[in-house]
Amino acid sequence: MLTIRSLVVLGLLWAMADASPQSRKKGGNGRAKTAQQQAAQIPQGISQATDGSMILDTTVNINGLDIRYKISGPAAGFTAESGVPGGAAAAGTPGTMGLNVLLHGDGGQSFFDFPNQAVQKNLMGVAVLAPNKNLFWGGGSGLQRTDGVAHAQAVSDLVTKVLPGVAAFNASDVSFTGVSGGSLLLSGFFVPAHAARFQGSSGGVLLNCGGLPPQVDVADTDATAIAKTRIHFQSTQQELTSLQPAIPQAIAAYEKLAAGAGVAADQIGALQTVDNSPNGGHCEFDEKDFVSGVQLMADSFSAIMQGGNGQVAGKNVLNPVVGNEKLSFKAGNKRSMASALRSKLTRQGPYTEIHEL
Ligand SMILES: *[C@@H]1O[C@H](CO)[C@@H](O)[C@H](O)[C@H]1NC(C)=O
Repeated sequence: MLTIRSLVVLGLLWAMADASPQSRKKGGNGRAKTAQQQAAQIPQGISQATDGSMILDTTVNINGLDIRYKISGPAAGFTAESGVPGGAAAAGTPGTMGLNVLLHGDGGQSFFDFPNQAVQKNLMGVAVLAPNKNLFWGGGSGLQRTDGVAHAQAVSDLVTKVLPGVAAFNASDVSFTGVSGGSLLLSGFFVPAHAARFQGSSGGVLLNCGGLPPQVDVADTDATAIAKTRIHFQSTQQELTSLQPAIPQAIAAYEKLAAGAGVAADQIGALQTVDNSPNGGHCEFDEKDFVSGVQLMADSFSAIMQGGNGQVAGKNVLNPVVGNEKLSFKAGNKRSMASALRSKLTRQGPYTEIHEL
């Protein structure tokens, strides 16, 4: 039987068979294709998630930026306008499920893996692809994310203006997950400038393998919202050397924002937590690999962020930031985030070449 999923897989195989390695790697002008051009070869459309949910993969223009995103959930939770078979919700009506919006790391791997595609504890999964030729959230490179303001605005507008037309969700239950460069955008730009827009949301922000202190001014309304937002910082012992100082700086800055808004130390410790105990490299939370490490964190989302027991691979990661601001790391890796990822991906399957930078 040809299911929607197999049609999508066939489409992908066709797209890959059609493009010889030569033509896939080179643009029409003979130059190597950018990560963004390679990603564009992966078809969009409707497919089925690992848990039987429906996935819509589509692109919308927001403030002049093409924003490709995926959203996953039960068919009935989609609007008729979404085009998802079985979608019957009226656009703009609130639903009972919340969202977990994931921003991938440099190069886009976690957008295509979509580790949060299975509904978890009543959250539909969303993944958004960075509108940048290298697929870097915030553009720029390293810790300098020169397009951070515009990218954060686009993510904020996607959730508040576009997604209500696609799915019926509970706008008071929206969480965010960052992976590496995605965590830089969330902590450096998105949370400081848009926290108030998600005020009253019971959701939180899970910052995996990356963090920056706010890179923009924090308005009082955003500081007040941050002081109520659940935030978890997760790193590893052998984190990249560039991130080893940046993550503790982010922790200190967010703790200060909450303290400045009058939150007592013990409350801050419950609201903001941190762990870097896994003995792995960048994003290797399972001490093995980038992809499986990120999947472990996605699978642990409710345990960490929704009042669960905080257990990740048998260990409690809910250490209060208060008193644990200065993380101790082992010797890290000097490579860039993108090159750390690239070396991982050479071991992956058919997506490998498409994701390689
Ligand atoms: C939406 O989420 C909020 C916060 O978790 C919750 O209090 C409320 O009951 C939810 N609404 C619905 C309709 O499920």
